[in-house]
Amino acid sequence: MQAITLQGFGGVEVLSLSDYPMPTPAAEQVLVKVHAIGVNRADVLQRRGLYPPPAGDSELMGLEIAGEVIAIGSAVVGIETGQRVFGLVGGGGYAEYVLMDYQMAMPIPDDWSYAYAAAIPEVFMTANETIFELGRLQAGESILIHAGGSGVGTAATQMAHHAGATVYVTAGSAEKIERAISLGASAGINYHTQDFAEEVMRLTEGAGVDVVEDFIGASYLASNIKVLKTGGRLLIVALMGGHLAELKLSTVLSKRLQIIGSVMRARSLADKRAITQRFVNRWLPLLRQGEIKPIIDRQFALSEAAAAHEYMEANQNFGKILLVVGAD
Ligand SMILES: NC(=O)c1ccc[n+]([C@@H]2O[C@H](COP(=O)([O-])OP(=O)(O)OC[C@H]3O[C@@H](n4cnc5c(N)ncnc54)[C@H](OP(=O)(O)O)[C@@H]3O)[C@@H](O)[C@H]2O)c1
Repeated sequence: MQAITLQGFGGVEVLSLSDYPMPTPAAEQVLVKVHAIGVNRADVLQRRGLYPPPAGDSELMGLEIAGEVIAIGSAVVGIETGQRVFGLVGGGGYAEYVLMDYQMAMPIPDDWSYAYAAAIPEVFMTANETIFELGRLQAGESILIHAGGSGVGTAATQMAHHAGATVYVTAGSAEKIERAISLGASAGINYHTQDFAEEVMRLTEGAGVDVVEDFIGASYLASNIKVLKTGGRLLIVALMGGHLAELKLSTVLSKRLQIIGSVMRARSLADKRAITQRFVNRWLPLLRQGEIKPIIDRQFALSEAAAAHEYMEANQNFGKILLVVGAD
């Protein structure tokens, strides 16, 4: 089969469409003919050599796919060949065929394209695990979502709004803010031109927010702590702005704050099955009804993975970037 392989680590020039051995499903796996793949920042980090795949997972990039089951392992129940499925994979998505744990393979509703399905798993599951499972966001509370135009941000904004929370976002352009507001945000802050902590305090009349969903890390820590209410929760989901910071512990103590980190990829298979199930129970019905939806920015062919990575690294996207294999 053909796959995007890494010829070393670095810029997009290390990406190569190459022949690669066809995988064989273990007892609890299905073999999927890939039709669409979600591109994630993790793929970019992996390409740069900063995010090695966990032991036992495929060395290929690609954490989420949609496709057709073409073979099943001996212990698989409830899935048949020919079925259209989508979900998380333990790497290996940037290929014509990939292995998927059968308990993480979700049937694709008939009226969804493969691309539509592939845009969902990583961002909706990440948002659910962080904002709702760890952050315990409730109706009537408020949340600040950074990178409101990111894949995770566009999912998180819709989910938090649907859950009855007041949503504020930060983003790098007026256009992204406008689009985030159309997804349910009450207001947006352009972090290039405005101090987001000042703006959040102004917008909330000095109250602050209950939850912050943060992808930036070090450079935002002090301001994130500032905007949290007493009892607030800070979710650290990525570190695009650095990983070393000073923290004023007296504020954490006096405001009784919680700082919670989360990472999906390194979780055990049992955890990922549970993460999938929680998503299926709470959010899949709303996605099926069209109450919330994946936001797709742009699609590239698998052979254009380099262009897709460049596009992601240029921070131009609003929502998901996808790779498609053949006709969607
Ligand atoms: N922990 C986990 O389990 C987990 C799971 C999934 C994703 N993630 C992480 O979550 C983040 C979002 O993922 P995604 O795939 O949704 O990303 P994405 O679609 O690539 O969007 C990222 C956006 O973040 C903004 N940004 C980039 N660098 C920034 C900086 N230094 N300061 C402020 N904003 C910045 C840019 O938009 P602007 O125009 O607004 O600048 C960019 O478009 C990534 O870092 C990813 O690695 C973590």
